[in-house]
Amino acid sequence: MSFKQHSRQYDLVVFGVTGYTGKFVAEHITTHFPTDLKWAIAGRSAAKLQNVIDECKALNPDRQSPEIEICSLNHTELGALAKKTFAFITTVGPFSLYGEYAFKACAEAGTHYFDCTGEAVWHSSMIEKYEAVARATGACLFPQSAMESATSDLITFAMASRIKTEFSAPIGDVIVEVHEIRGAPSGGTLATVLSLCDAFHWKEIAKSHVPYNMSPIPNPKKTPKPSLLSKLTGLYPVHNLGLLATSLTSGTNSAVVHRTWGLFNQEPSLQKQSYGPNFTYREFAKVKNPVRGVVMHYSFMIGRLLILFCPPFRKMLRKFVSQPGEGPSKEDQAKEYVQFQGLATPDIQLKTGKQVWAKAEYAGGNYGLTALLVSQAACTILQDDIKLPGGVYTPACLGQGYVDRTGEAGFKIETMVIDA
Ligand SMILES: NC(=O)c1ccc[n+]([C@@H]2O[C@H](COP(=O)([O-])OP(=O)(O)OC[C@H]3O[C@@H](n4cnc5c(N)ncnc54)[C@H](OP(=O)(O)O)[C@@H]3O)[C@@H](O)[C@H]2O)c1
Repeated sequence: MSFKQHSRQYDLVVFGVTGYTGKFVAEHITTHFPTDLKWAIAGRSAAKLQNVIDECKALNPDRQSPEIEICSLNHTELGALAKKTFAFITTVGPFSLYGEYAFKACAEAGTHYFDCTGEAVWHSSMIEKYEAVARATGACLFPQSAMESATSDLITFAMASRIKTEFSAPIGDVIVEVHEIRGAPSGGTLATVLSLCDAFHWKEIAKSHVPYNMSPIPNPKKTPKPSLLSKLTGLYPVHNLGLLATSLTSGTNSAVVHRTWGLFNQEPSLQKQSYGPNFTYREFAKVKNPVRGVVMHYSFMIGRLLILFCPPFRKMLRKFVSQPGEGPSKEDQAKEYVQFQGLATPDIQLKTGKQVWAKAEYAGGNYGLTALLVSQAACTILQDDIKLPGGVYTPACLGQGYVDRTGEAGFKIETMVIDA
């Protein structure tokens, strides 16, 4: 499939390729994108950028190398760079510290933007500041187009599509669970978690995770309340999924999925995909036994409290965890694996109860998956006729073309109708 015609110098610029995640993005583009892509890699060190080019050249010697763009974190240089390209990917994080420069530059330049932040509170503040600017320039901005939160968003989208096809009905209650995860975080990810609490008040972080807080329109429908036992133990036995427990990433992912609900209702070109009025979303992690689930629940709770409210604990952690730029080795990444499962109930009365079950998996590392998701999101806007006006969107707003591309690249979502 060919890339769209436009008047800019580049189809795509990738900012942050000298970091742990950015290198995976450069590699994914080198090995998966059509060779007629006009692209550049951007960063503050020419020598580091040349190293990335040399490493990518070894992966695909026949492909023309990207251009190099030297760019520091300031409004003038990023503003000039954003004007040169049709689409822009950034992996420069922590986003709460460094992300606003690129976000603002792309919103103002009418440049389509993709990032890998998992910081919903930062995402929420960018909507407030730049949504109106993007509407005026035509820029479509897609934060959280990575493992957080494209995975949850696309699995929900796939289940809603299957329900529409099978039952001509909207989607009702949805549960997504992190079924298996083998992998370690990068230094950049850990620095991001720790910086977030310095950049935002805990109340702002908590507010950004409240269902529908990031949705452009409210939904009075309430998420099902947990039982007292679930509240105390963090355990959620779910028929057709098994024993589930508290998930570390449920807040940020559910913020994005609920925003998708609102965007699908609000934006005329997305309304045919609407999830319906009784949609609810919850996310958990699969556990092998109750003891593990309870331990996980309390460990997360205590860890979260210490990180949020105890600056000396954050300072101490910084010394012991891996540092920005570091991450699992290539060999360890190759052994990593992640699987998600989902369950959705059609919002319709049927003679016999039915549900849609989904499975999505990726073998080869969480950062490889992030690179796949953010790169294929950019590819979708470079190739497909996406009829969105300017604004801040969620990954699912890219539609079936994005789901198909991520599937072909290795993140396949399968859905099945099962008895409830
Ligand atoms: N949500 C998800 O699923 C997910 C997945 C993966 C990553 N992430 C996020 O992605 C971000 C990056 O993670 P990482 O592990 O790749 O971090 P990293 O290895 O530390 O890389 C950071 C990148 O940002 C650049 N950078 C930092 N400060 C800069 C500055 N002042 N000016 C210009 N460039 C600067 C670095 O350039 P230099 O090389 O020049 O220092 C490097 O390219 C983190 O926020 C992480 O949380 C999220």
